[in-house]
Amino acid sequence: MDCYGEFANIYDELMGDVDYEMWSDYIEALINEFSGIDVENILELACGTGNITIPMAQKGYSVTGMDISEDMLCIAKGKLEGKRLEISLVQSDMKDFEYDAVRAQCVICACDGFNYITDENSLGSIFEKVYNMLPKGGTFIFDISSSHKLKNIISQSTFTHVDEDTAYIWENYYDEDLKTVDMELTFFVRENSGLYRRFDELHVQRVYENEEILKMLQSAGFKCSKALSEFSFEEDNGMSERVFFAAVK
Ligand SMILES: C[S@@+](CC[C@H](N)C(=O)[O-])C[C@H]1O[C@@H](n2cnc3c(N)ncnc32)[C@H](O)[C@@H]1O
Repeated sequence: MDCYGEFANIYDELMGDVDYEMWSDYIEALINEFSGIDVENILELACGTGNITIPMAQKGYSVTGMDISEDMLCIAKGKLEGKRLEISLVQSDMKDFEYDAVRAQCVICACDGFNYITDENSLGSIFEKVYNMLPKGGTFIFDISSSHKLKNIISQSTFTHVDEDTAYIWENYYDEDLKTVDMELTFFVRENSGLYRRFDELHVQRVYENEEILKMLQSAGFKCSKALSEFSFEEDNGMSERVFFAAVK
């Protein structure tokens, strides 16, 4: 079963209530707070349909966005048409990406991209590659869905959504041994004929504790790593649903 295949076509509609302007303002505020150097170029991992990529480029940064999903990138490309922005898009798995081929003073990953890396050694190796490619003073900023959210909120629930054109059922199963949540998504999307077409996706997200991530960042070489409660500069107390990490080389 594909992950971010056909879902790409309705992703933006379902994320319609997310305030990406505020989110990108917050990322810029973190850059200003933590970066030891001027930032002109940003590498964005798991950029999806460009919801953060575009506002960051509108702020004047030159952004390389990469994502594993051709369908998500295709939507991002469509949104760039007619806009004169410094954005290049690359399709790659972030585990295999040629990090050294990109010049950036800041690397970002927004909206739980790293939860999709289900093996901690692979995540550690991504952190090392990011560390090696950044210049001294460069920043690494990302967020994850917190352990609290995945274990205590998502895993205990089934979510549904129904409107005129789209409906979904989102069931979740937590595997305590693997520390993963299997998210089984069933979509029904209305076609021109008026009939609804069904498709399914399986998303697997790994639960990471803040301490685990901070340790991995330290092992990769980063200093001054912080785990912050969502959209704040306060250290996370374990109850946020989204935790932001800011690390400096
Ligand atoms: C929740 S979406 C976030 C997209 C975008 N950052 C946003 O804020 O809207 C997660 C994204 O991670 C991407 N992704 C998952 N695993 C990946 C991997 N191994 N390498 C690169 N991208 C990946 C998916 O294709 C998807 O676009």
